This record gives sequence, structure tokens and C-alpha cells, in this order.
Amino acid sequence: MPNDSASNTSRKAITSLVLDLARPYRASLMIVLAAMAVETVAGLAGPWPLKIVIDNVLYHRTMPRLASLGHWLTASGFSKMHILYGCCAATLIIALSTGLLTHYFTLSMGEIAHRFVHALRCRVFAHVQRLSLRFHDSQRTGDLTSRIVPDVQAIQDVLANGVIIFVSNSCLLVGMLATMLWLNWQFALLALSVAPILFLAIYRSTHRVRSAARAAKVSDGLLASLTQETLASIRIVQGLSQEHRQDERFQKQGTSSLEAHLRGVRYQARITPLIDLLAGVGLALVMWYGATRVMAGVLTTGDLVVFFAYVTNLYSPMRALSRLSYSYSKATAAAERIAELMSVHKEVHDRPGARSCGRLEGRIEFRDVSFGYDPKQPVLTGVNLRIAPGERIAIVGATGAGKSTLISLIPRLFDPTAGTVLIDGEDIRAFSLDSLRDNTSVLLQDTLLFHGTVRDNIAFGRSSASQEEIVAAARVAFADEFIENLPAGYDTLVGERGATLSGGQKQRLAIARAILRDAPIFLMDEPTTGLDAASERLVMRALERASAGRTTVFVTHRLVTHFADRIVVCEHGCVVEDGTHDQLMARGGRYCELVKLHNFAADVGVRMGH
Ligand SMILES: Nc1ncnc2c1ncn2[C@@H]1O[C@H](COP(=O)(O)OP(=O)(O)O)[C@@H](O)[C@H]1O
Ligand SMILES: [Mg+2]
Repeated sequence: MPNDSASNTSRKAITSLVLDLARPYRASLMIVLAAMAVETVAGLAGPWPLKIVIDNVLYHRTMPRLASLGHWLTASGFSKMHILYGCCAATLIIALSTGLLTHYFTLSMGEIAHRFVHALRCRVFAHVQRLSLRFHDSQRTGDLTSRIVPDVQAIQDVLANGVIIFVSNSCLLVGMLATMLWLNWQFALLALSVAPILFLAIYRSTHRVRSAARAAKVSDGLLASLTQETLASIRIVQGLSQEHRQDERFQKQGTSSLEAHLRGVRYQARITPLIDLLAGVGLALVMWYGATRVMAGVLTTGDLVVFFAYVTNLYSPMRALSRLSYSYSKATAAAERIAELMSVHKEVHDRPGARSCGRLEGRIEFRDVSFGYDPKQPVLTGVNLRIAPGERIAIVGATGAGKSTLISLIPRLFDPTAGTVLIDGEDIRAFSLDSLRDNTSVLLQDTLLFHGTVRDNIAFGRSSASQEEIVAAARVAFADEFIENLPAGYDTLVGERGATLSGGQKQRLAIARAILRDAPIFLMDEPTTGLDAASERLVMRALERASAGRTTVFVTHRLVTHFADRIVVCEHGCVVEDGTHDQLMARGGRYCELVKLHNFAADVGVRMGH
């Protein structure tokens, strides 16, 4: 649950966002509101023809409040039948104009709501995508997804229908109140005496309904997370035969979501009969007081008809408003969740005055760099490292030494807590993020392919590439051959996790992607882990070709001495050794130990023989 100041900032964030997104529709919204106001007037006029028929056609009564109209009707010499026809025509005209106006604003408001929500969704998506990795590491993907899709949907439902019901009914309420007070204020006060109780009841129930809706939203988000996580690791779930356990977790989460929704429905169901009952009391009062006033000759029968129609009408918008309260509460809860998301700021962002760095040469320097995911637990401490343009560096060290963390500072996935990372002699924070990241290619252990064709996947880092360039890159990466053997060649569809391709094939696709991207800095994080010897050899050959002429930082637990110009040994977040394979072996230090410890001798022996 967000605390007060957090919900305050998130409220500010959503308000300014909504105002910003609504700006293009200001004019249309004004017209729609005007149409609603006119429709309200037509609605107010609704019972008047009947009143005139009763007072001026059936009985001949003067109308205290509309004396001039009465006099004019009498003086104009219209026959009773003329007045009757006129009133019938007026009823039809009122119905027709109400219908046309309603048609117009339902259409326009629906369109505005859909367009607005589309823009909102795009904005939220763009924002979430750019949030720092630290944020994403702490969030559940399913919950974020549910904020972008169903939560935004809930807002749209209320915008499309709710605004119409709310605005036109509120206008109607105010209009009827004013007219009733003007006709006979004592009568109006009596007729409305139950309204405060009604408002109080609606207000209290809305409050409860909203907290239920909020709980339901949170629960739905967790349900979406569970689904997403189960499906993302379906192989493990099925492989370890954990379907029953996941079923149980899903049912448990689903039950708490169900309970929250049912609570909302119960509150909702409780309020509707209460409104009906209070409305009945109001109508009975009007009937009793009105009839006695008519008998006393203070009011006309027509006045009573107008009052009766208004009081009936008064409670129907209230009922509509209360019926709206659950969807309104759901939308409010959804808006809160979106606001919470939008108020998270990017941790890594462009400094004011950041400039594009163009194409960099690729001279990298870590100067006294320290970093910790949690400020209290440093992962890197005082790292100093220089890498010349075009140099190939291998970073080795035990698991947890901070190797992945070290290279993630180069494309600014995180910013150091102290010290500076420089490229071509300049603090990388002086460059705009986009231009800096245009200069890096990244290859990870687990290559994720997107749902699409092989061609799309290779061109992911550079969508403007031509077919020739794509094939050329694939050829350099030794991927061309197996791609040609796929059922549809470059047009073969690969799944999200690339299940149809082997690990080595996926890595070679990713290498082709990096080659096509042609960035001067190439970062690799254990790209050959988990590959069999034959695949690894092929991937290594592809990597050698791909890294030619680029500054290459290669995190590895294998000793790839023939590949790297220099080897950097990382331990507990520090660089402990730095030199060529031969230098480090001669030193007999940590590296030498690693070589013996991990029994890489055979591997090194083979490679040293090249
Ligand atoms: N996203 C993260 N959030 C918090 N701690 C992390 C994160 N990633 C890594 N760490 C921690 O930082 C330390 C170094 O991790 P890492 O750089 O991945 O090491 P290596 O790649 O050398 O195995 C480890 O103790 C790890 O638990
Ligand atoms: Mg790692």
C-alpha cells in the first residue's frame, strides 16, 4: 500500500499525465459537454407538455409561476385542441432532440475515451520499458503487464460510459433541483428531504466498494504474475511435474481475488435496494403533500405532475450513479496503480545537456569505480581498468565476483555509486543514453529470441538492414548454413524462447545480430556456457570474426587465451590481476590457481597449441 506522500506524488503524476493526454480533445470535450447540457434542458422540459395539457386543456387553472405563459395561451385564442396538438408536437420534438443529442455524445465520448486510453497505454508502455533494470529486477512482469492491459481497460470503461452517466445525470440533478425550488420551494425541500440520507449511503458504500476494488486489482495483478511466471518456465514446471502445485497456488490466489470481487459485488448489491426504498419514501411524501396542496388550491394538478416526474427522475440518476460506483471504484483503483507506476522515475537518465556521442572509438576506462545494488552491500569496489580501442579483454573470476555487474556499467544499465566510467576519455554520463547504447552490442548467456522470423531476429538491433546485409552477417557468424536448412530459410518463424533452435544456433543468430549492428564496443557475458564442445567451438570461431576491430569485453569462466589479448581477474568486486596469459601464469597468482583449480589445463593445452 503506498504511503501518503507516495500516493500524493503519484496523484500529481497521473493528474498532469491525464491533462497532457486530454489536451488534443479539449475542443471536442467542450462540444460534448455542451451537448450534454442541452440534452439536460430537453430532459427538464420533458414533463412540461403534460403539465400544460392538464392545467390548460383538462382544467383551466392559472399557473402561479408561469402566469405569463398561461395568459399568453389564453389571450392567443388557441383552442384547447390546438394547445393539445402543440403539446403532443413538443413531446415528440423533445424526444427527438434528446435522442439525437444522446446519439451524438455517446459516439463522441466513446471515441474520445478509446483514443485517450490508447494514448495512455502507449505512454505507460514507453515509460515502463525505459525504467531502470533495478526497478525491473524488483517487479513481477505479470503485475506490470496487468497494469498496462486490464487496468487501462478499466479506466476506459468508466471514461466511455461513466462520464456520460455522471455528467448528464449531475446536470439533470442540478437542473431539476433548481426548477423544483423555483416552482415551490417548500414542496421542493420536502421532496428532497431524503436526498441527504441517500447521498450519505452512496458515499459510504462507494468508500467500501473502492477498497474492495483496490484489493481485487492487487490480487488480479498477482494472478497475472503467477500465470506469466508459470508459462515462462513451463518446461521446468512440466519437467519437475509441478502442475498440481502451481494449480494450488493459482487457485489460492484466484480465491482471494474472487473474494475481493465478491465483496465489491455485495456492497454494490446492498446499496441498490436502499436507494429504491428511500426513493419510495420520497415519492410517498410528494404524493401526500402534493395532493393536499392541490386540494387546498395552492398547487395545480400540473405542478404535481411535474414534481412527480422530477422526483422519479431524480432517483433514477442516483441509482445509475450508484450502479456505476463499482466500475468507477475499479477504475480509480486502476488509475492509482498506473499512477504509482508513472511516478517511478528512471534511475539512469540523460543528464541535462547530455549530447550525442556519435560513433565512438571504444577506449574504455574504469576510474575508481564502486557500485552496489544495495548501497550497504558493495559489489564493486575501486575498480580501475583501461581497455584500448579494438582490444579483446577476457574477464574471469568466480561466480558472484561482480563480472556481469562490471560490464553492465558500460552501456549504463546502472550508474556507479562512486567513480567514473569513461569512453574515449569522456565520462559516459556526458553522452545521451540512446547514442551511448548505439555504440554497444550485447551478447548474453541466454539469448532471447522474439516471436518473429529469423530475419526479424537478426535485424532486431538494426531494423533498417537490407536482406543482403542480413545474409552477410549470418554468413560471418556461421549461421547462414543452418538457416538455409530451416523449413522456410530466413522466413522461418521462431518462438519466444527459440525452442526450435539449439543453444549454439541461437547464439550464432545473436552474434549475427551483433555483427549487423556493427557497434564499436562488444560486450559478452558467458555466451558459451551450456554449449557442447562442438557448438562452443563454432560459436567461438564466430565470436572471433564478430569481434574483429571492436573493443571486446568477454566475461567467461572458460580460459580463452588464444582469443583474448589480455585477461583481467575479478575477485570480490576488485580487479586483482591484469595481464596476458603468459604473464599471469608466470606470476603464479590467482589466475594460475584458477587454471589449476578448475582443471582447465586440458582445455588450455589444446588452445595453447594453436
Ligand atoms: N540485480 C541484482 N540485484 C541485487 N544483487 C545483485 C544483482 N545482480 C547481481 N547481484 C549480486 O551482485 C554480486 C555480483 O554479481 P554478478 O555481477 O552477477 O557476478 P558474476 O557475474 O561475476 O557471477 C552477487 O553477489 C550478486 O548476488
Ligand atoms: Mg555473471
